[in-house]
Amino acid sequence: MAKKSALITAIEKSDPDEIYNLAAQSFVETSWSQPVLTGEFTALGVTRMLEAQRQIKSKAKFYQASSSEMFGMVKESPQNENTPFHPRSPYGVAKVYGHWITINYRESYDMFCVSGILFNHESPSRGLEFVTRKISHGVAKIHLGQSDHVVLGNLAAKRDWGFAGDYVRAMWLMLQQQKPQDFVVATGQNHSVSEFAQEAFKVVGIDNWQKYVKVSKELFRPAEVDFLIGDATRAKKILGWQTQTSFEDLVKMMVESDIELLKKNSK
Ligand code: GDD
Repeated sequence: MAKKSALITAIEKSDPDEIYNLAAQSFVETSWSQPVLTGEFTALGVTRMLEAQRQIKSKAKFYQASSSEMFGMVKESPQNENTPFHPRSPYGVAKVYGHWITINYRESYDMFCVSGILFNHESPSRGLEFVTRKISHGVAKIHLGQSDHVVLGNLAAKRDWGFAGDYVRAMWLMLQQQKPQDFVVATGQNHSVSEFAQEAFKVVGIDNWQKYVKVSKELFRPAEVDFLIGDATRAKKILGWQTQTSFEDLVKMMVESDIELLKKNSK
């Protein structure tokens, strides 16, 4: 007898009303060194999840974590649900597949499947692999005298950074609607990596932040996404969602959390 897939067993056991598929190889940089693995997890993994749900609990609601990385070399600004995609990394390409297979299951099987196109969402729980946390952690170390610099790549790239807690609320709201449809979730403001660094150093009272930042060309990506800014008008109108955390508050929250963490760990 063929062995049941782990996903099927998990759905049978948990009997979910809502499924949030956040699983992925989510490091954009790693996707160039692991393009096939990224395709397996970030692209085909979505089909595996949808297929398990279709077989066991097709009435459950399904959320797919789509990404602003799908816009890549942007065709228009700000980007909304109708903006064409031009992904710039194996990760972005895989996310486009995940996005369309979610729509395809909705259209093929009349399942409640939605895709949230979330722009970068950050918090103190962010991994150190991502630039915001790398900066907040680096600044905290410098502030505590544990380091004298942080090494970064492309400082000019611009992202629309929001607070993850606000964005999770939007994800949940998408599954509480009568009709399944896709939504962009974004703040509508963007900042460069250098602006993020400047703001983070400001939290610890350092104005001449450039003194503490080294740039390494090795951290530049083979193909960069230079500029992202989202238009969340549909989410505002239909979900009644809006971001509640400012860029400044987000940066402050992350830096202060890292200072506390490092103080605790050094005891
Ligand atoms: N990671 C990293 N490390 N990025 C750096 C660095 C560095 O030292 N220096 C500059 N950057 C630049 C990158 O080149 C990129 O332009 C920008 O900072 C943001 O990089 P990340 O924080 O790694 O995030 P991302 O925008 O590539 O992708 C994140 O957001 C997407 C949208 O929500 C990831 O979370 C993706 O999984 C997610 O889909």
